[in-house]
Amino acid sequence: MQVIKYVFQPHGDDRGQLVALEEFKDIPFRIKRVYYMYDTGEDVTRGYHAHKSLQQILICIHGSCKIRLDNGKEKKVVPLEKPYEGLYVSNNMWREMFDFSSDAVLLVLASELYDESDYIRSYDDFLDYVKKISLTTTEEV
Ligand code: TYD
Repeated sequence: MQVIKYVFQPHGDDRGQLVALEEFKDIPFRIKRVYYMYDTGEDVTRGYHAHKSLQQILICIHGSCKIRLDNGKEKKVVPLEKPYEGLYVSNNMWREMFDFSSDAVLLVLASELYDESDYIRSYDDFLDYVKKISLTTTEEV
């Protein structure tokens, strides 16, 4: 599984750091929605879903957390601990977010508006879905 982590270029000077992100330039999709998580309990794991279409960039703009990515065949854990690093999470990717530091703020840039019908919230359904997709792709070739 290929993990795509963007390293954004901060505009640093003697006042501090500033990171600016533009759609299609720094972010590979149109940004339709922004949300963030904070005050996440240190023992909490959240996420536990995949999306059929949605793409996201996850940035831990303060503190740290870990992201488990799972494409149905392979799993990888990616630590996020720098405010200038963004993890790309494609569609059809199961994700779990955990190990949040008490000061963590996890910012999410999303390619679509909130749409519950885009979610796959059962892991078994996710495995069936990615199997079905890979069969369809194979048949098309
Ligand atoms: P939830 O999907 O449980 O978060 P996660 O799975 O990423 O841990 O979302 C928590 C609540 O927030 C849930 O009631 C849905 C709502 N929500 C919105 O209204 N808009 C959004 O863009 C998101 C991401 C969640």
